[in-house]
Amino acid sequence: MNHFNYKDNHLYCENIKVADIARKVGTPFYLYSHATLKQHFKVFDNAFSGIKHLTCFSVKANSSLAILRLFLNEGSGLDIVSGGELFRGLRAGVQGNKIVYSGVGKRIEDLEYAIKSGILMFNTESSQEIHTIDEVAGRLGKKARIAIRVNPDVDPQTHPYISTGLKENKFGIEINEAFNQYLVANRLPNLKVEGISCHIGSQLTSIRPFEDALVKVNKLFEDLKHAGIIIKYLDIGGGLGITYKDEKPPHPDKYALAIKKTLNNPDLTLITEPGRVIMGNAGVMITKVIYSKAAGEKLFYIMDAAMNDLMRPSLYDAFHAIQPVEIFHRKKVTADIVGPICESGDFFAKGREMEACQPQELMAIMSAGAYGFTMSSNYNSRTRPCEVMVKDNCFYIIRSRETYEDLIRGEIIPDFLEKP
Ligand code: LLP
Repeated sequence: MNHFNYKDNHLYCENIKVADIARKVGTPFYLYSHATLKQHFKVFDNAFSGIKHLTCFSVKANSSLAILRLFLNEGSGLDIVSGGELFRGLRAGVQGNKIVYSGVGKRIEDLEYAIKSGILMFNTESSQEIHTIDEVAGRLGKKARIAIRVNPDVDPQTHPYISTGLKENKFGIEINEAFNQYLVANRLPNLKVEGISCHIGSQLTSIRPFEDALVKVNKLFEDLKHAGIIIKYLDIGGGLGITYKDEKPPHPDKYALAIKKTLNNPDLTLITEPGRVIMGNAGVMITKVIYSKAAGEKLFYIMDAAMNDLMRPSLYDAFHAIQPVEIFHRKKVTADIVGPICESGDFFAKGREMEACQPQELMAIMSAGAYGFTMSSNYNSRTRPCEVMVKDNCFYIIRSRETYEDLIRGEIIPDFLEKP
């Protein structure tokens, strides 16, 4: 079900007019639908019913406390990649034993923090890291549960920047090498070696690469069993794609079915780390046209949002649908939709056919719930937008718009730099 719909030419989020929210909170802002978030989580999680599983929402996709709280209330765990994400998760109320921690460069202080927080498992990505976790756990008088993140060398057929399961990527330990690393790790005194993890990339729109990876993982699982290492947790990562334009990713039910079929052990607990598939289409960014300008053949619409607010088009040339918040049935034009930042890469769309619009009108940049706010910055000293959650006919500011004071928080001018 879609909770961003037009009624009488006005865009609604659930049962509230988006234009009414904009009038109250200003622009730009991120807007999330509570009903959509909840439904996406449930659909994904229910798809794995019937087997032991834990859905660990991937915090990097959207780390706002209210969003995390919502998923935690639905029974979610969290997939984190930094001490900062751990802090957020704990603030939102996660139980330590529902956290998995991935990432190629976990710092010692973050390892300590995570061990003290009693996380479920580290997904380790190198031999040095495995030894470091053993040392840190020993120092703290604890045992740390680990998985080795294996790199299965399958092509996820996605954008090269978000593909992670190929040999040439920096992630994980090559699957053929992993067996030996398991033997080494299993002899370390402060580790419980109980997991295999495997995340091959993001925005995957076919099931095949997941299956190919899992077949390789199954083989490793068997080899480990014969060597006396009993794996209890299989973490298949995230990566299921969504429709931005005309992609046809598999429904979570179909994805889950394929995984369940390929899994060959009922004693395993399956861990998933979905981000985009839950968040992506549950959020939009609302921005206002500041000016339009014609230059030769070209028409530019200059918005009050910019690449610092939503980086995906600039960084990956990603497509985001852009829709008017009010439909006026004007003539169609072809325009570049750009932000005010001093970079030619500051665009949301190029050569986009759309209804002509006027200054002060609102636009919705769709599918912006995942990797939107979390990748935003203060470039050009722009304050970051507020985030709003709609529930039925009410809206809630879940993060205030930054102020100029926020921009300089923590900055210090040393005394020797006297006033001019
Ligand atoms: N688990 C691990 C270990 C990951 O690295 C990622 C994403 C996920 C789970 C969640 O993947 P998802 O279900 O969201 O595909 N900024 C990029 C996406 C980067 C994804 C990084 N890793 C974008 O905007 O497209």
